[in-house]
Amino acid sequence: MNEATMDLKKDYSESVTHEALKAWVKEAVQLCQPDNVYWCDGSEDEYQTLCGMLVDKGTFIKLNEEKRPNSFACFSDPSDVARVEDKTFICSRLKEDAGPTNNWMDPKEMKSTLGGLFKGCMKGRTMYVIPFCMGPLGSDISQIGVEISDSEYVAVNMKIMTRMGKKVIDQLGSEGDFVKCLHTVGAPLTPGQEDAKWPCNPDTKYIVHFPEERSIMSYGSGYGGNALLGKKCFALRIASVMAKEEGWLAEHMLILGAKNPEGEKTYVAAAFPSACGKTNFAMLIPPKEMGDWEITTVGDDIAWIKPGEDGQLYAINPEAGYFGVAPGTNDKTNPNAMKTIERDSIFTNVAITPDGDVWWEGMTDEVPDGLTDWHGQLYDPANDKPAAHPNARFTAPAGNCPSIDEQWESPGGVPISAFIVGGRRSTAVPLVYQAVNWNFGVYAASTIGSEMTAAAFGEVGKVRRDPFAMLPFCGYHMADYFNHWLQFGRKLPNPPRIFVVNWFRKDENGKFLWPGFGENMRVLKWVINRVHGESGAVESPIGWMPRYEDIDWKGLDFTQEEFEEIMTIDRESWKREVLMHEELFERMYDKLPKEFFFMRELMLSSLWRSPKKWGLAPERA
Ligand code: OXD
Ligand code: MN
Repeated sequence: MNEATMDLKKDYSESVTHEALKAWVKEAVQLCQPDNVYWCDGSEDEYQTLCGMLVDKGTFIKLNEEKRPNSFACFSDPSDVARVEDKTFICSRLKEDAGPTNNWMDPKEMKSTLGGLFKGCMKGRTMYVIPFCMGPLGSDISQIGVEISDSEYVAVNMKIMTRMGKKVIDQLGSEGDFVKCLHTVGAPLTPGQEDAKWPCNPDTKYIVHFPEERSIMSYGSGYGGNALLGKKCFALRIASVMAKEEGWLAEHMLILGAKNPEGEKTYVAAAFPSACGKTNFAMLIPPKEMGDWEITTVGDDIAWIKPGEDGQLYAINPEAGYFGVAPGTNDKTNPNAMKTIERDSIFTNVAITPDGDVWWEGMTDEVPDGLTDWHGQLYDPANDKPAAHPNARFTAPAGNCPSIDEQWESPGGVPISAFIVGGRRSTAVPLVYQAVNWNFGVYAASTIGSEMTAAAFGEVGKVRRDPFAMLPFCGYHMADYFNHWLQFGRKLPNPPRIFVVNWFRKDENGKFLWPGFGENMRVLKWVINRVHGESGAVESPIGWMPRYEDIDWKGLDFTQEEFEEIMTIDRESWKREVLMHEELFERMYDKLPKEFFFMRELMLSSLWRSPKKWGLAPERA
């Protein structure tokens, strides 16, 4: 045992008064049989000690202190590079409560499988007890969890991604509720066996949720959402079940504030499927020519939203850091993210430069010489494989972000005035439209989709419906989720308006029609002005749409013709689009809200009567 490990032996476990928590930890010790148990206090010293241990083990590479202070990089096992959706289970007591879009297994059967796998799974390792709070400590929107893990990597990432440590135990007191999160890399060590740099179980992985018990068990992976259980597992899958039962929302949404030149701030929450640029949108820098607009970031991935006494919705970001996709991030696409990760960050599966800094595809036009790729090998650019893994990540503290909103830790949350939803569609869906009312907005959000870019999910180019971007993250039956949204809106005196955007429409030559990134501010400005009744729109068969003159074009050369192309609603493709919703609906027919059938019919009938090509200049159609 090196000195660093010795330091960790002193913990505060003796002072813990929460009997149920102590009993659960004891049970986990008996099952997993670790060599040591250590309760994380969340201190800076502890973080440095754990990072030092990871460096000693060869897992972490300390980056150049001058170029990237207080930062580390690591390479995962090639079998452990992303979330494993096919190994993710919702083990509700009844299969119908998990619904057709989740993997399900009877909880008793799953526990018996996992019991076998977890037995002795931490031999030769230290078990870390990691108390964490999702959301600002003391906020009544926040929730507490405790993760038990045999991974130092998990402990240090949880320190960045959550409010972690002894302060959470103090808040929990002796009776508080917490979500049980049990995690192992699934790689026990025999005495004297040398550890892998990235321990995991290359053959067996299970990410399992027991919604009625509010507990999670994760086996075999050390990566991201599989292992940092506060994020997708708790803050979305388990929290979505809590939210349905308790009357709130747990959403896969970013939260941003937009301050107009008059100093008025409006907050919006936005749902986009994974890999559609949520972090970029949350941190966007408005074009200078638009005047003094400022975007501030509350969160980039998850929003917990509750109605306040005043009937408004209030949202918090349950996380305390960003676990963002590195490739493609650069000074043009997201300068705020680049500043956020200048220091205090952990990089997983990026490439490393000879002078101890990080690099990934898209960071700069030129590939630096002498890179070490994510396999830890000298990178040969002639080889057409990327130097960084396409799902390479940075973990960085939210407080480092230059655009962080001053209210981001406000216990009461920020008031939400609009929801934006979007997918990745090269055709059909216009740049932006506003749903005519809450119900139509819920319908639109339930049917958003993305064209598949990776064969992993099916046929490339086919639309994968991803309702509210929650398909892999909803902890219960998707149709019950739609009903929850409809019901939730009924109780709000003035529900936020719902907008649909599509940054990804292409022309017939496959070229993107919209420049995206900072220019998305133009669409956002229209959205915000709509919310305040200050910008115009025209009716279309699918909702309200801006005219060319309703959008601020200062500083961007985007012609009326180009705008009309990107806003066109082609009658025939929209009929097909609406008919295609059937594919999603028939999977959940038994529970689908009756409103959805009527809305679909209404849309079809208004498309029936519309001009052949319904654009913003119908006379051209
Ligand atoms: C994420 C995801 O990592 O959505 O945020 O996959
Ligand atoms: Mn996400």
